[in-house]
Amino acid sequence: MAILVTGGAGYIGSHTVVELLSHGEQVVVVDSLRTGHRSAVSADARFYEGDIRDAELLDRVFGENAIEAVIHFAASSLVGESVQQPLAYYDNNLFGTYSLVNAMVKHGVNKIVFSSTAATYGEPERVPIEEIAPTRPESPYGETKLAMENMFRWCDKAYGIKFVSLRYFNACGAHPDGLIGEDHKPESHLIPIILQVPLGQREHIGIYGDDYPTEDGTCIRDYVHVMDLANAHWLALQHMRAGHSSDVFNLGSGAGFSVQQVIELARSVTEHPIPAVVSPRRAGDPAVLIASSSKARSVLGWQPRYDDLATIIRTAWNWHKQHPDGYAD
Ligand code: UFG
Repeated sequence: MAILVTGGAGYIGSHTVVELLSHGEQVVVVDSLRTGHRSAVSADARFYEGDIRDAELLDRVFGENAIEAVIHFAASSLVGESVQQPLAYYDNNLFGTYSLVNAMVKHGVNKIVFSSTAATYGEPERVPIEEIAPTRPESPYGETKLAMENMFRWCDKAYGIKFVSLRYFNACGAHPDGLIGEDHKPESHLIPIILQVPLGQREHIGIYGDDYPTEDGTCIRDYVHVMDLANAHWLALQHMRAGHSSDVFNLGSGAGFSVQQVIELARSVTEHPIPAVVSPRRAGDPAVLIASSSKARSVLGWQPRYDDLATIIRTAWNWHKQHPDGYAD
């Protein structure tokens, strides 16, 4: 039987497809290619181009393949954009998930691993953030991801669909083979933007505020390698196959790095001075976001392999150097 990966042409989805294939799984990908890249999808996966809101397409995918479980990435994921266009987020994220779960019910598929986010928590009361922390999202992005989790909860009760929701902190890095990596257009994430400086694509990195209540005044985040995230999806699948009940897990490295520290590590990895200029704060940035991932470690047996940020940046640099303009498509 096969695993259906929605959004499998995106950044975390494409790395998860490679991870699943390395464990001998059969993989079917559905992706609209609005933000994903066809060439990011391994040739060993069966590919369907289309939108999960298209019920006829999903009928065809579930009809033509024996799907055992779904790993669901297909969603819009930019905090700032979601504040500007909330209805687009409700449409793509919530209606997309409604359409997907509807097809799962219709075709008798009862396992789903869900790509969730630390944005479901909002500004934390304390760090590291545990899964039992209050969820008070501060953007339509976080709100729709939380609503999707709640949809799964109710569908578990009503239809027996088991879910594992994985709340990622700051995904970064690239596959160590350098063939797939991060390519967002426009790019908004810190590490790829920093690396645009040594690539000659920008003069300097802008630091969004240095007056936060942290040691050097810049925001602290928990950076987790994309292959470690990918591996957690496979472990989540094993967890459901073993018959465990639905659950939610944070995925982070458990260590916090300030924007300033990330820039310094990138300077040493790339051997480039990477000038930095302080600019005003970006709206909605909490000062510190660090995950407690002890639940994922103890329950799923997750053991991040890339727990050193310099190594993580090195894998990203390896990809960006070889693909300065991202994927060809
Ligand atoms: N930053 C800069 N300059 C830049 C870009 C980012 O100083 O040019 C700073 C941000 O202000 C923030 C940090 O670098 O303090 C990390 O910013 P990112 O945009 O890379 O990541 P975020 O922490 O804002 O968001 C990420 C994901 C979201 C997810 C969130 C959950 O992009 O999808 O983590 O923690 F919701």
